[in-house]
Amino acid sequence: MTTFTPRVFSGMQPTGNLHLGNYLGAMLNWVKMQDTNECVYCVVDMHAITLWQNPIALRQAIRDVTAAYLACGLDPKRSIIFNQSQVPEHAELAWVFNCVARLGWLNRMTQFKDKAGKDKEAASVGLYVYPNLMAADILAYKATHVPVGEDQKQHLELARDIAAKFNNDYEVEFFPQPEPYIVGTATRVMSLRDGTKKMSKSDPSDLSRINLTDSADDIAKKIRKAKTDMDALPSEPAGLKGRPEAENLVGIFAALNGGTVQDVLTQFGGGQFSGLKNALADLAVEKLAPIAIETKRLQADQTYIDQVLADGSARARAIAAPIVKDVREIVGFLVS
Ligand code: TYM
Repeated sequence: MTTFTPRVFSGMQPTGNLHLGNYLGAMLNWVKMQDTNECVYCVVDMHAITLWQNPIALRQAIRDVTAAYLACGLDPKRSIIFNQSQVPEHAELAWVFNCVARLGWLNRMTQFKDKAGKDKEAASVGLYVYPNLMAADILAYKATHVPVGEDQKQHLELARDIAAKFNNDYEVEFFPQPEPYIVGTATRVMSLRDGTKKMSKSDPSDLSRINLTDSADDIAKKIRKAKTDMDALPSEPAGLKGRPEAENLVGIFAALNGGTVQDVLTQFGGGQFSGLKNALADLAVEKLAPIAIETKRLQADQTYIDQVLADGSARARAIAAPIVKDVREIVGFLVS
């Protein structure tokens, strides 16, 4: 059995502001993993255009998301931070994977069904093969660990299937099986207006999410207005079953505080939501408001952001290019 050098890869789409779901579901782990791993963090602009983006807004969003990455604590000296389209190996490997993945596999992807909506015939082909590009992102670096929120689990399973089929079809042990790293008390953060819906950039209600650019006042307001039920908070995690809003707020508190769900319930169990909400508003402002301020400061220095991306892209390419060159050879292309 080939052993692969551990390497972390993950990415976020530059389609609007990052939000609390991105932060708690993925970013907290990204920041921690830098301490002990080689990490590659991508702004996935090629994924973004699977739905039409205004080009001027997209360019701005790539820089804004990069600024948010840095403001959250990603360190461009330790980690590789870059945007996907500057490393053409992603697109090249994605083509090979279009030829490895099966239609039946893609037909099972729930995110395509959600995003394409009722009129599937009108969806872009890119949206359909989106998971193949995601597999290419990861495997162009032979990444072994992929920190993501729960909603990406199915895509990660597909990436594993693609890696296995490639190895099997070409009789090589070339790609590792990338492991999803889905860890924490808020791996699926729900809308603040409806505990059964995922917190998302595309929700029309801004009150449904906390953006990483929100001011302290907005953060506090959104938490105070968050939907709840009528009962007191339980003292044990089992009591959160069937109470999605309570479960969401308690999970968010625990994730921001670095504690467990039980810790939060020990403190607030038996009490009304107002006590939890007041404490959560203070905690969220303390943790998130500085990120918005730092993002703004970094956004003002476009030259620096562009430099981080150019440097990161060169370092990313230095890893991906030899791997994709080997792929060309394995599949039978002429390699000069
Ligand atoms: P994206 O941009 O939708 O989300 C970025 C990350 O945030 C997580 N996330 C959430 N976690 C918890 N609760 C939520 N409500 C929530 N919303 C988003 C996502 O799980 C993700 O980790 N396809 C990916 C981007 C991507 C990628 C990759 C990720 C492209 N290539 C390769 C890993 C490896 C996406 O659209 O994420």
